[in-house]
Amino acid sequence: MQIRIVTGQPWEAPADILVVPVVGDPDFSGPLGELDRRSGGELATLHAFGELRGKRFSTSLGAGGELPVKRVVSVSAGPADELDREIARKVGATGIRRLIGRHADTLAVWLDPLGGVEGGVAAAAELVARGVVEGGFEPKAIYREDTEAAPPAIDELVLIASGGDASSLAKAAERGRIMGEGANIARRFANRSANDITPQVLADEASALATTHGLWIDVIDERRAKDLGMGMFLAVGQGSDNPPRMIVMRSGSQGDLDEAGRHLALIGKGVCFDSGGISIKPADRMEEMKMDKTGACTVIAAIVTAARLAPGMPLLAVAPAVENMPGGHATRPGDIVKALNGKWVDIINTDAEGRLILGDAMTYAEQLGATHLVDVATLTGAVGRALGNIVTGAFATPDPFWDDLAAAASRAGERYWRIPLIHDIYSEMESWYGDLQNTGTNDGSLVKSGLFLEQFRTVPWAHLDIGGTGYFRKAYPYAARGATGVTHATLVEMALAGASKG
Ligand code: BES
Ligand code: ZN
Ligand code: MN
Repeated sequence: MQIRIVTGQPWEAPADILVVPVVGDPDFSGPLGELDRRSGGELATLHAFGELRGKRFSTSLGAGGELPVKRVVSVSAGPADELDREIARKVGATGIRRLIGRHADTLAVWLDPLGGVEGGVAAAAELVARGVVEGGFEPKAIYREDTEAAPPAIDELVLIASGGDASSLAKAAERGRIMGEGANIARRFANRSANDITPQVLADEASALATTHGLWIDVIDERRAKDLGMGMFLAVGQGSDNPPRMIVMRSGSQGDLDEAGRHLALIGKGVCFDSGGISIKPADRMEEMKMDKTGACTVIAAIVTAARLAPGMPLLAVAPAVENMPGGHATRPGDIVKALNGKWVDIINTDAEGRLILGDAMTYAEQLGATHLVDVATLTGAVGRALGNIVTGAFATPDPFWDDLAAAASRAGERYWRIPLIHDIYSEMESWYGDLQNTGTNDGSLVKSGLFLEQFRTVPWAHLDIGGTGYFRKAYPYAARGATGVTHATLVEMALAGASKG
């Protein structure tokens, strides 16, 4: 998809379809009125009938009239004083998704109505471009080419702004396009089924991306993992005939620090299927557990995106990939294993497997020189019950690292809510035989998932639990069902905080 910036008025848009963002209760006295008159007055008529009053992500589709475009799509963004970067992105995504099943080669979006977003019209260009790319993603098209359920595959996105510097808008839009493409890499992998993506296949996909983008990669098999002492990682993978793989990718060189003095590592849970293991899950919704590798898919995509935007910047991605299955070799409740950092762990519930593979991956990242860790995981069902599917639960320590995460999240247009590490209840995770158990009592189980992981880091660390936000169970105006790509942009922004500003 090419991007073209047009500085001018929306009625000059050279495209098949024009998307018009509507912020608040629209005012037809300015350019919107002029645009509407030229297209035949449909928007003002709808408005007079009480439509188009700003219900967020509601849309209308009308004729182009005398405009160069054939169709005009309006997308409501909600009240002006609530317009933020997340909404601006979703407006772009909603615009293209309104066209599902239709054909278009070129799509224009009028940016001026979104100019009130933080960062102004350049931010709107970035977020709309990203939104259009993300909105264009359709999981039905992963396995089938004959689907009519997909949004149009457009060749050219035209962004129209009456003011602003065309070259800086183009640069911003390009950044947005790359961000969106990265999120879609993560979503495409995450949506693929467990009979398709085994740990080895995920490693092969990561290797292909590493070759394309000039990243170093190391795939650790079960024999090397044993030599290294990754007892928790191996315990999860041993019940499956599809052997585990620890996927390690790096841009820059080992030991290098970025401009912020860090060697950041992104760590992603890669459970290609989570049956629960011997502590097997109920059948209801078990099929969703093919998406339990979403964290791994996200960090693999994020290091690729970061390398595209800031080539050579030091950054590590570690994705422990396993299948959590029952079987003759599977770990049993009560089994005791030694973690890579030397701690002895009592596995009480084999369904609390994410923290086991992540713990060893975090230790390994530190062994490779990471000075800061961020992990992403579909770690708990509890986080979704607490926060729903829009706001990601996050842990971070120490406090300044939370501030870094919050700043990256606001640039990315993603929402997080901080969950406390309540050390007072750590004693409920004590093990009879080892150092700790992998579950502890039920009370505060979400907090305890964080307390467990915290035992496997010695440097600043953040944990993003996408158990609620990683995938949607139904379609929304701005996104298909399935993997959302959430946290990808935050991780990239987090990494780019260490890029030179040249
Ligand atoms: N992958 C699941 C968490 C999950 C469940 C994410 C549903 C999204 C939707 C994880 O491995 C798991 O099974 N967690 C358990 C932890 C418990 C055994 C302490 C859970 O959340 O029930
Ligand atoms: Zn899991
Ligand atoms: Mn589980």
